[in-house]
Amino acid sequence: MKTAFITGASSGFGEATARALAKDGFKIIALARRKERLETLAREFKEQIHTIALDVRDKEAVFEAVENLPSEFKAIDILVNNAGLALETQKFDELALEDIETMVDTNIRGFLYVARAIIPLLRKQKSAYIFNLGSVAGVNPYFGGNVYCGTKAFVRQFSLALRNDLRGSNIKVTNIAPGLCKTEFSEVRFKGDKKKADELYENTKYLSAEDIAKVICSILTLPDHININELELMPVTQTWNGLFVEKGQAL
Ligand SMILES: NC(=O)c1ccc[n+]([C@@H]2O[C@H](COP(=O)([O-])OP(=O)(O)OC[C@H]3O[C@@H](n4cnc5c(N)ncnc54)[C@H](OP(=O)(O)O)[C@@H]3O)[C@@H](O)[C@H]2O)c1
Repeated sequence: MKTAFITGASSGFGEATARALAKDGFKIIALARRKERLETLAREFKEQIHTIALDVRDKEAVFEAVENLPSEFKAIDILVNNAGLALETQKFDELALEDIETMVDTNIRGFLYVARAIIPLLRKQKSAYIFNLGSVAGVNPYFGGNVYCGTKAFVRQFSLALRNDLRGSNIKVTNIAPGLCKTEFSEVRFKGDKKKADELYENTKYLSAEDIAKVICSILTLPDHININELELMPVTQTWNGLFVEKGQAL
């Protein structure tokens, strides 16, 4: 039985992937801050799941939790490094410093603590897989995306560079870069303003968390010698904004 370590498993992509992989017979280590949510998963999948309630920004807690994994969950085959968030859509110079720090500390620092703690365990396996959750925001700079776009550009470039460091190891790395997807993501971004979050998804088709889980599960079925470096996906209703030109600007 293979084991997957999934961050952000209390909601959205992480939760859907945990469920999909558990149903496919994987053992799951489910990490997030909200303990109650993780316990719901644990009740459903029983001894197949080990839960870790912590904040990925807490470096000591991350390394301690990995160090103290129960022996039956120590052989990790798959890392889904997914916990992350966006906050607000203000111009950078109007964005609260606290929001800037939360995004950088979660999407970059916390993400790296998890990768740094888990990769030594992946190296012990004959083969292993890392899925990093990037975003279309990592290559498409959109208005008000500033810090979030930057953190996802980091995830993308880190994922590609990591492939070099893992040469010869049979550890695959994929940067998954989704577009518009309805999860708690926008509610978190707009700090609980559900109406504002829902407006984004009104009268259009968006991806679901289950779609992302399906993509991850299907990549796992590919032959051993194939590495998908990056996979960008959007709903058919979404395309790019294009370049913007200001009219009437005094120069
Ligand atoms: N939804 C989209 O449109 C979209 C598109 C592209 C990329 N993404 C990326 O995909 C990933 C998952 O997003 P989602 O859409 O599934 O959002 P979501 O429903 O808000 O889920 C985010 C998950 O991350 C966890 N998390 C956040 N901060 C954490 C922290 N400091 N420590 C531990 N866990 C933390 C949350 O759990 P707790 O709150 O319980 O800690 C939750 O389980 C993110 O990296 C996001 O940037 C999302």
